[in-house]
Amino acid sequence: MTTAPRLVILDTDPGVDDALALLYLRARSQRERPDLRLLAITTVFGNADIKTTTRNALWLRQRLGLQAPVHEGAAKPLNRPRGRSPVHVHGENGLGDIDLSGPTPPPADRGAAHQKIVDLVRALPGQVTIVAIGPLTNLALALSVAPDIASLVAEVVIMGGAFARGNVTPFAEANIHNDPEAAAEVLAAPWPVTLVPLDATLPCVLTDATARAMAETGDTGRFVHDLTRGYAATYARHEGLEGCVLHDVAALIRLTDPELFEVRSAPVSVTLDGDRLGQTTWSEQGPARQVCLNANGAEVVRRFQRTLA
Ligand code: BDR
Ligand code: CA
Repeated sequence: MTTAPRLVILDTDPGVDDALALLYLRARSQRERPDLRLLAITTVFGNADIKTTTRNALWLRQRLGLQAPVHEGAAKPLNRPRGRSPVHVHGENGLGDIDLSGPTPPPADRGAAHQKIVDLVRALPGQVTIVAIGPLTNLALALSVAPDIASLVAEVVIMGGAFARGNVTPFAEANIHNDPEAAAEVLAAPWPVTLVPLDATLPCVLTDATARAMAETGDTGRFVHDLTRGYAATYARHEGLEGCVLHDVAALIRLTDPELFEVRSAPVSVTLDGDRLGQTTWSEQGPARQVCLNANGAEVVRRFQRTLA
């Protein structure tokens, strides 16, 4: 018996690890028996401003030979000014400062990201999985114009949150901290949510040795290696790691290899002010979320490597 591939909207702020997530998605959709199919890429500010993250999504679509449309999304959080871009993590160009010259990619497709999410979810009821690997602004906007989509999506998988420690502050993770109000709305909505916070992504380290080994295997491996050099240098400086963390890839591997994750089911809320702005905490109220609290990081990375080989 063959199972149909999951239909995925990737909501993303590319971003080095976002680009790796796209590589993983492409590889899973090109297998003999694909288990994922990319319906659309929707962009959001985050790792860079919206023009840059959209340009990166368009460049990646061309570089990876993807067919999916790219729809530009939110330029800023719901009701705060946008914070500074983390150029020390993802480079000035958002993609680790790799060379982006070459033919100019075709422009973004017409229609705002949040509206595309609404249209696809309504057109394919019960079939669409939204994988959100940037700030949650587009998802919150989609819910605000079309609350009915909450009962129509198959699943929402979010890379975001932190229960043990944050990465942009001691308490908060970047995607949630970038738009805490949007995250609070998305986590309170009556749709099925799986959260993949830092607790589960930090064990997923692509070591420099593995990146070097991948570089020997051909174009895709070399691309992974080159893309991650600046990103890995940041992890070396800040965390003493000889490698870099595959945050956004982990959210997709949760879809394809759920057994690699430890899960707790409970409601989650988001702190909306003070020093702990953007912190995710357990709550007594609201719908239960499937929260990945740990992962077999070595195996996550092995499966990433094997899938791309
Ligand atoms: C998340 O923030 C971004 O920098 C990464 O792309 C990832 O989605 C990790 O906190
Ligand atoms: Ca991201």
